[in-house]
Amino acid sequence: MKSTAKIKKKNILIIGAGRLGTTLASVLVIKPVPDLKVRYITSRTEKSLIKAKKIIGKHGREIIFTKDMVEGVKDCSIIFICTPDDEIEKVCNNIAKNAELSLKGKYFIHFSGSKRLEVLNNAKKLGAYVASIHPMKSFASIADSIRTIGGTVYGITFEKTHLCRESTEAKSLIIDIVEALGGTTVEVKDDDKPLYHAAACVASNYLVSLVNYAVEINEKIGIKSEDSLKGLIGLIESTINNIKKLGTKKALTGPIARGDTGTIKEHLDNFKKNFEKGDYLLYKVLGLATSKIAYENKWISRRTFQELKTIFMDGE
Ligand SMILES: NC(=O)c1ccc[n+]([C@@H]2O[C@H](COP(=O)([O-])OP(=O)(O)OC[C@H]3O[C@@H](n4cnc5c(N)ncnc54)[C@H](OP(=O)(O)O)[C@@H]3O)[C@@H](O)[C@H]2O)c1
Repeated sequence: MKSTAKIKKKNILIIGAGRLGTTLASVLVIKPVPDLKVRYITSRTEKSLIKAKKIIGKHGREIIFTKDMVEGVKDCSIIFICTPDDEIEKVCNNIAKNAELSLKGKYFIHFSGSKRLEVLNNAKKLGAYVASIHPMKSFASIADSIRTIGGTVYGITFEKTHLCRESTEAKSLIIDIVEALGGTTVEVKDDDKPLYHAAACVASNYLVSLVNYAVEINEKIGIKSEDSLKGLIGLIESTINNIKKLGTKKALTGPIARGDTGTIKEHLDNFKKNFEKGDYLLYKVLGLATSKIAYENKWISRRTFQELKTIFMDGE
């Protein structure tokens, strides 16, 4: 998605000096965009603010780091809520109930993949625009995230109930923010956020569990996790490259793609000898999903597909 309208100069308040908040602030001050200026960073504790200030360094000279968010809300038209998911609504409600503050025309943006826009309802009732921008990226180390954030895809969700012009401006602003971060956007409807987030969890968190599963299988036959990881990481990287080139369906290789049912039976016989029943359920569930891909690709016959289904769905 490409931005069409250019936004007017806007000050940003970042609430939550954690991994995401500090990364966003750093990127926006290192490569400044004339219309977007990080002016305030607030957090619950002094410790987080000190850490963020140190990481952002000299580029952030003009940023005010403070535990008090009132001045920031007054002075800024864009409010990034970068707290843990469960704190977003509380933070928004605390701001909304402060009679000193006018929220009309301000933008309240959160970064959670799962939370809907309703968590910002109390700001919306006071005339604010609400949106969410979810980076499809794992921000484990702030230093690495600052370095690698370019090219990230962001799931964006914004209100469409406002008058048309305002809705377009909100969309433009969000796209401009993402472009300032060097990323691109994909639009996600508010009601679809739980499934969108589930997909991200499968691809990121469950990948970790899947690799851990492979490591544990190898551990059972005496291969240490560090040794097995070396080999598995190489295998995973080449698979990721295949997915990039060929897509998720055609990148499939291995015994199921070839229709080698004998090999699969051998895997399962050995699981049965060495593991508890519950420990190879995952292998069977994923085997079934993999068989469907091979059949959809027309790489295995209907008969082989039925045979694989019987193998993976047996109760043993
Ligand atoms: N990390 C990721 O990989 C990732 C990826 C995509 C999206 N996100 C989203 O980004 C958001 C932030 O996640 P994160 O990983 O950056 O979390 P985080 O590292 O735990 O940082 C959250 C920060 O919020 C501050 N905070 C907590 N409650 C607060 C409150 N009531 N008022 C003000 N500050 C408060 C905390 O600072 P104090 O120590 O001062 O309390 C903490 O440093 C979440 O919505 C998350 O879903 C994260």
